[in-house]
Order: sequence, then C-alpha cells, then structure tokens
Amino acid sequence: MKVAVFSCKPYDKRTLATFTNEADLSMTYFESRLSMETISLVKGFDAVSCFVNDDVNAEVIRLLKQQGVNTIALRCAGFNNVDLEAAKAEGIKVFHVPDYSPTSVAEHAVALIMTLNRKTHRAYHRVKEGNFALEGLMGFNLAGKTVGCIGTGRIGAAFCRIMKGFGCRVLCYDLSPSQALIDHGCEYITLEEIYQQSDIISLHCPLNASTHHLINKHSLDKMKDGVMIINTSRGALVHAQEAIDALYTGKIGYLGLDVYEQENKIFFEDMSSHIIQDSVFQLMLTFPNVVVTGHQGYFTIEALNHIAQTTVDNLLHHQSDSSGARQLA
Ligand code: NAI
Repeated sequence: MKVAVFSCKPYDKRTLATFTNEADLSMTYFESRLSMETISLVKGFDAVSCFVNDDVNAEVIRLLKQQGVNTIALRCAGFNNVDLEAAKAEGIKVFHVPDYSPTSVAEHAVALIMTLNRKTHRAYHRVKEGNFALEGLMGFNLAGKTVGCIGTGRIGAAFCRIMKGFGCRVLCYDLSPSQALIDHGCEYITLEEIYQQSDIISLHCPLNASTHHLINKHSLDKMKDGVMIINTSRGALVHAQEAIDALYTGKIGYLGLDVYEQENKIFFEDMSSHIIQDSVFQLMLTFPNVVVTGHQGYFTIEALNHIAQTTVDNLLHHQSDSSGARQLA
C-alpha cells in the first residue's frame, strides 16, 4: 500500500519508520498539510495520513476519491478537520488514534496550571538576568481549590485524577458522566454551576457545534473574578477576542492555551523570523498572565510511539480494533 503522509515532521517520520515494514507499507513523507493546495501530491497513492490542521473538507475528499485514495489515517484523536459525512458518501475509510496517551495531554494541562500559578515562565527569565526579587511571583496553593473539568472522556478523566491528587475539589460536566470518576470523589454538576464555583476551568471536550466558542463573554460573565482558564482541547472552544476583553477587566486572571482557533496558520512551524499576521494572537502573547504553547500537549515519546504504531496498524489491517473505536467512517 502506498501512503502519502502529510504534515510530517522529522520526529513523526522517525517514529513511523520504526513501526513500518517497507514490504507492507510504502510511506512518502510530506511536510506540507493536506489541503486543496496540496491535493495534487496524492496522485498514485492508496492512502493518506493526516494530522490536526490538515483541511480534509468535502471537496478535498471528493478529489482524494478521484485520485484513487480509499483510506484516511489520522495521526490524532480529534477529527473536527475531516468531513466524515463526505468520506462516508465517497466510501473512504477514516481512522483515528483515539487514546494514544490521554495522560500526556492531561499532564500538559497541569503544567500550564502550575506555570501560570507559580509564574515559572517569569521566574526563569528573572533568574537568568540575576533578578531574584519575588514581587509579582506570588502563587496560591492548589490544595483546597475548586477545579472545573468540562468533558471527562479519556483526557478529562486523567486530568481529574491528577487534580484530586493535588487535593482539589473537582467538579465535572459531561453529557455522559463517568461512574469511575464519581467513585473517585469527583462531582458532576451543571455547566452553569461549573462556571459559578470553579477557581480553575479546564476544557477537555471535543470541538463541535455545541461547544464552539463555549468560553465567550456570556459564560465568562458567570465565572469568578480572576478565574484560570486552560484549553488543551481545540482552539475554537474559546472566543479569543472575548477572552482578551476578560483579561483586560481581570475576569480572567490566568489563561493557559495549548490550542488556538487560527493555529493552522502559525503552529508546528518556526515563525521566529516572520511577522505573525494575527493581531489577536500577538496581543494575547503580551499578557504576563497568559501562557501559550504550540499544540504540544500530545508531544511525549510514549504518545508518538503509540500514534505511529496505531496508524500503521490502521493502514495495514484496514480494520477497527475490537471495540470499533478507531474507525470513524
Ligand atoms: P474523548 O472522546 O475521550 O472525551 C471527550 C468527552 O467530551 C466525552 O466524554 C464526551 O461525552 C464529552 N463531550 C462531548 N460533547 C460535550 C459537551 N458539549 N459538553 C461537555 N462534554 C462533552 O476525547 P479525549 O481523548 O479525552 O480528547 C478530548 C479532546 O482533546 C479532543 O477532542 C481533542 O480536541 C483534544 N486533544 C488535544 C490534544 C493536544 O495535543 N492538545 C491531543 C489529543 C486530543
């Protein structure tokens, strides 16, 4: 099977190569994303492998089919960038990697909390310059604080367990509550109650019509003054401009983002010699109480190995796992 691997960085290539037997799979690696602009590259391939910011819309899918591609193997869990209905209609199978390492993303959410709270991002620069003054670096104890988790699937559940370990009160909201988390001492309440009671709110739900811009002026108005918002899920869960407005008023006291709505124009590339053409993003970076990372929540050795292994397995066997969870269309 000939596979065109898009959005492929050197570290992806290294891990994919480890799990690929060239006799079964012939991989061609492209750094570029799959989109209308790059669709011509798929000529002669049976399958494509894509990542979070490839634009696999209905038109791209139609052209994939036209070129003879019959499988899309996503190397990620989220699939909001793929038109599944179009894939189904064209008879193209779509696979993803549902649970490559929930812990890696949950731990990154906690890293953002710890950084924002104890201001290690600022302390690092101060100490490098010989400035050991503590003014402005005051944090708070996590023990006893109330943490709201929106979306308690694989990543959210791992996050809740870690926060319970810190001694936090953990409040949850999900369409399907988890008995295991309730048994672990977490409480399920309404979204409104999460907004009202939480000192820290972390987002772990998928991006869909009901969660788009979940964090906006109206939801922020219901939250505690100085609330900490963490988003490691998908950028468009947060209305960036309204979050900035809330940073100015102090409604948001801390903002930790691993994802950003317009990230496909910026993330995963070295932009250090470019002028980033996104004034909202640029403004966001100027706040001392905002920490942004470039979609690295998943980026651990364990997760990359699992992604590579599952992707190869999805491509080779063209079948779902025993629970059927890996095949989306
Ligand atoms: P999951 O499918 O295991 O869990 C998602 C949970 O959200 C489910 O329990 C579901 O019932 C719940 N949910 C759905 N709609 C909801 C709503 N309207 N309100 C509240 N809860 C809702 O997914 P998983 O693996 O935990 O991933 C969560 C998200 O994390 C993914 O959708 C993806 O966007 C993001 N992600 C980010 C990564 C990163 O590197 N930053 C890496 C992997 C995933």
